Amino acid sequence: MWVMSDRGIPRSLRMIQGFGVHTFRLVNAAGEAHFVKFHWKPKLGIHSLVWDEAVKIAGADADFHRRDLWDAIEAGEYPEWELGLQIFTEDQAEGFSFDVLDATKLIPQELVPVTPVGRMVLNRNPDNFFAETEQVAFCAAHVVPGIDFSNDPLLAGRIHSYTDAQITRLGGVNFHEIPINAPLAPVHNNQRDGLHRQAIPRGKVAYEPNSLAGGYGQACGCPSFMELTCSFDMMTAKRRYGNAIALRVNVTVEKT
Ligand code: HEM
Repeated sequence: MWVMSDRGIPRSLRMIQGFGVHTFRLVNAAGEAHFVKFHWKPKLGIHSLVWDEAVKIAGADADFHRRDLWDAIEAGEYPEWELGLQIFTEDQAEGFSFDVLDATKLIPQELVPVTPVGRMVLNRNPDNFFAETEQVAFCAAHVVPGIDFSNDPLLAGRIHSYTDAQITRLGGVNFHEIPINAPLAPVHNNQRDGLHRQAIPRGKVAYEPNSLAGGYGQACGCPSFMELTCSFDMMTAKRRYGNAIALRVNVTVEKT
């Protein structure tokens, strides 16, 4: 219904609204979880074309949208979106007349208002289309500590299938080491080997947590890692974020 409405033919990618189909969870420092829906609202407003306009534009310039976005960024007119959250409890969700884990349902803002929390600005075009666009791997499973999943069945399908496709599309299990996908901070998770490995890990441990490589990270020889391990160990991670996401926390520990 949304796609067939006026919203289905945006005037520009800079004027397109985005909102998560899925319900995720936010987990606070005490390990308490709330459901969350993410919303992106364009600063330029939401604008659409009518059918006849879209047909003429597409006939004259099939690259219209891509060119529009590129030209605006080159001209310094950076497109901007406001990030808003709809946060609600499981008890609230139980009281709704629809299933919040049904991807075809929106949560009315009268029930849960959208709270603005941040913004996204696109301020640079790619320098190299292949290296930065073709090789990028987005995946619904890649979340930062503090964000967790819900039982949304469509989300469950996406969590495993994107990685699966990316392993093939990007040439092997180490596609996270391609520059556009690699984190800026070093990661010491003891994962190793496989096709197209870019790093040269030392030691023999290939899993975490472990007792042979100092818990985690030591096998990579990072001098600062033991210090970090002491101040932010697995127990702390579990206490802060719960068992389910503690394993992910130690992977990104150097960024915290
Ligand atoms: C509302 C639901 C969905 C949305 C909005 C969505 C969106 C997308 C987007 C934007 C991409 C491109 C990602 C990229 O460029 O790396 C993509 C790729 C893909 N999607 Fe979905 N998708 C949805 C549902 C699903 C489901 C349910 C599955 C499978 C069970 C699935 C499987 C895939 C796969 C395998 C790829 C290719 C990944 C890759 O090679 O990078 N998607 N999807």
